[in-house]
Amino acid sequence: MEVKTFGVIGSGQMGNGIAQVAAMSGIQVIMNDISQEFVQKGLDNITSILNRGVKKGKMTDVDKNDILSRIKLSTNIGDMKSADFVVEAATENEPIKFKIFQDLDRICPSHAILSTNTSSIPIGRIAGQTHRPEKIIGMHFMNPVPVMKLVEVIRGLATSDETFQTTWDLSIAFGKTPAEANDFPGFIANRILMPMINEAVFCLYNGVGKKEDIDTVMKLGMNHPMGPLALADLIGLDTCLAIMETLYDGFKDSKYRPCPLLRKYVEVGWLGRKTGRGFYEYS
Ligand code: CAA
Repeated sequence: MEVKTFGVIGSGQMGNGIAQVAAMSGIQVIMNDISQEFVQKGLDNITSILNRGVKKGKMTDVDKNDILSRIKLSTNIGDMKSADFVVEAATENEPIKFKIFQDLDRICPSHAILSTNTSSIPIGRIAGQTHRPEKIIGMHFMNPVPVMKLVEVIRGLATSDETFQTTWDLSIAFGKTPAEANDFPGFIANRILMPMINEAVFCLYNGVGKKEDIDTVMKLGMNHPMGPLALADLIGLDTCLAIMETLYDGFKDSKYRPCPLLRKYVEVGWLGRKTGRGFYEYS
């Protein structure tokens, strides 16, 4: 299936990154969120990243303006009526995502594929909110989207081969490398990553090491680009907690219990970079 118009629901950290890579691949993009302030903030972020690219000589001003001209801002989900493919990158909250998928199912043309960037909510549960479960799929980008090469493509039980192939091909068109996963809690990426981050928080909680030492061990000892506590701050501690809860609820296995310290940080509002404080402080 040819994708001419690509819709993105949510213009936050993930949504604006996805809109950027889509527009860079040459297709028309509609970036939607609930307020003008949010979509403008998303566009400002894309503009500043592209400006950095121009400064470094990676693209010209003309390229930058071409890319930006392909991104249409929207605060009305009804605009998705012209989308062939939509990725939902709203907040990681089931009732919000369910409502978005019910709306998209009603609004989008019958051929449109509706994908979700969820980090852990089952694809089947989202598909159950629509009348087109064969056209529902997970398209899970990594943060920061313009830099990270992976897209995890997740098949739900009812996802058709055509939907899978279109999503796979689109990921490649966006300059990414797709990997296939099935619909289990956390899929592949977060099934492996989050217990590691959670264990790093336990190391801090139990006094095994200071935060800087925990991160240094993983950076220099295992060649990770950043330590697990710094990475948790980048992802958002609320997101990390939500994913651990999904793993714990989904498997009913105590090895996935979230560290109490992670919960304490979230309760007090230390969510990482986005709030200026997580395990580290950010100015
Ligand atoms: N947006 C766009 N570009 C960015 C960026 C951002 N937020 N942050 C960094 N970059 C770009 C920089 O501009 C720079 O580009 P050039 O090479 O063209 O100059 C490049 O990335 C490298 O940046 P820096 O030199 O500033 O910093 P770095 O080398 O330390 O890299 C990093 C930063 C890419 C974040 C790196 O530390 C890294 O890969 N960290 C691990 C990230 C990771 O694990 N992400 C997955 C999180 S899990 C997830 O997303 C899934 C989920 O469901 C929770």
